[in-house]
Amino acid sequence: MKIYRLFFLLLLALCGWEMVMADEGPIFTVVANPAEKAATAMRLNWHSLYEAGEEARQEANWVTYTVATDSDWKRARTLSVQMERCAAFDSLRSKRPDSTDCVERIILCRHTIELKGLKPNTRYMYRLGKPGTPSDEGTVRYFHTAPKPGRGEAWSAAIISDFHAYTPIPHRVEVAMAMMDTLESRNGGPVQLALHVGDVCAWGGSYSFWRDLYTHAPYHRYAWAGVNGNHDNMDRKSTRLSNDYTRYTANYPLNGYEGEMGVCYYFRYGEALFIMLNNESMRSDEGLAAAQQWVRRVTAKEKARFVVVMEHYQWFFANTGRVSQYERWHELFDACGVDLAIAGNHHIYARTAPLYQGREVEKSAKQPGTVYLQTPSCDDERGMVLKEWTENRDIIKYRWSEGQRTVGALLMKAEKNRLSITLYNRMGEAMDSLVIEK
Ligand SMILES: [Fe+2]
Repeated sequence: MKIYRLFFLLLLALCGWEMVMADEGPIFTVVANPAEKAATAMRLNWHSLYEAGEEARQEANWVTYTVATDSDWKRARTLSVQMERCAAFDSLRSKRPDSTDCVERIILCRHTIELKGLKPNTRYMYRLGKPGTPSDEGTVRYFHTAPKPGRGEAWSAAIISDFHAYTPIPHRVEVAMAMMDTLESRNGGPVQLALHVGDVCAWGGSYSFWRDLYTHAPYHRYAWAGVNGNHDNMDRKSTRLSNDYTRYTANYPLNGYEGEMGVCYYFRYGEALFIMLNNESMRSDEGLAAAQQWVRRVTAKEKARFVVVMEHYQWFFANTGRVSQYERWHELFDACGVDLAIAGNHHIYARTAPLYQGREVEKSAKQPGTVYLQTPSCDDERGMVLKEWTENRDIIKYRWSEGQRTVGALLMKAEKNRLSITLYNRMGEAMDSLVIEK
C-alpha cells in the first residue's frame, strides 16, 4: 500500500468516519408537502435513526394533527404511519460544519403519511412521535391546505432557490431563511406554501446538510414543494448522482413517471396546477421526450385556470440573454397552455413578457401565452454578474442580480383570475413585478 494511501486512511480514522448532526432529538428532517389534491390532503416526511432499534422506530412512527385553532388539541387525531429503511445517504464523503472531511455513515428510518380528509384553506398543526414516549418531541409544526378549486379564494406562496445549504458556511441558509421572513413580512403574514426551484443543498448526498436545513423555522411553518436541482442530485465527489436525495427528503405525490416517482409530480393548489420536473433526467433526447410526454398527459387530464411548470435549469442564460431551456420547451408550453414557467440555476433573475409562438402577446382568457421567469440565487455567495444584454432583448423584459453576493426571492399572490408575482431583494424592496391574468 502506498504511503499516501496509508496517510489518507489514517486521516479518515482521525476524522472518525462518522457524520456530524444538527443537535436534535430522535426525529429529524421533518417536512410537509402538498398532496395531489392539496385542498384536502397533505403529505409528511420525517426520519429517525434506523439503528435506534425497533422500539424507537415504532415510537417515532406517529403523528398527531389538528386544525391550528384547536389550541388544546382536543380534536386532534393520532395515527401511526408507514416506515421504511433508507440507505440512500449512507457512506458518502462530505464535510463537517468545521469544514473537516468526513464520511457520513447513516441508515435512516423514513416515516411517511398522506393525511386525508382535511378541510380546505385551513391552517393545521402537527406533532410527531408517539405521545408519552421519548420520541414525543413536542415541536409543533404547521401546514396550510389549499383553497378548494373553483372558489377563487386567495392564497400566497414564496418562491426561492439556489441557496446551496452547506454547514461549513451557515451564512448561506441564514440569509435564505431571513429572506423567507422578509417575504412573509411583505405578505403581511405567513405564506400558505413555499415553492423552491432547486439547489437548496450544496450536495444532496450530504445528509447532514438536509438535516440542518430542515431545523430552520420556515420548514416548520408551511408546506414545501420543490424540484430537484443539479446540486441536490450530487454528492461531494459525484460518485453517486441520484434523485433519491430529493425523493427521500420529501414525500411528494407519487404521480410522476417511470424513474421519477416522488421526484416529478403535480398538484393542485387553488386555481393553479403545478407540474414539477427534474432536469437531471432530461439530459438525453429520450429523457426529454419522456418528460414532455408526461407533461402532455398531465395537462390533458388536469384542468385548472392556471398551469405552472417548474424546473431547475434556466430558460435563458440571463447574463447575456442567450437562450437555454426555453428552446426545448416553448412549443410544448404553447400547445399545453402553460401560463407560467419557473426555473432557477443561473443565479440571475429574468422574466419575459407573455410569449406565444416566440412572440410577445397580450395575454387574456382567449389568448394563450407563457411568462418565463427564473429566480435569482439567495445565498449571498454564489451569484452571477450581469454582462451586456445582447440577446433576446425583445422577449426578456427584466433582469436582476446583485452580482456574486445576491440575495433575492419572490412572492406569489393568487386571486381568482390573477397571479401577481413580485421579486424582492434582501431589504424587502420590490425590484420587479408582474401580473398574469386570465
Ligand atoms: Fe445553483
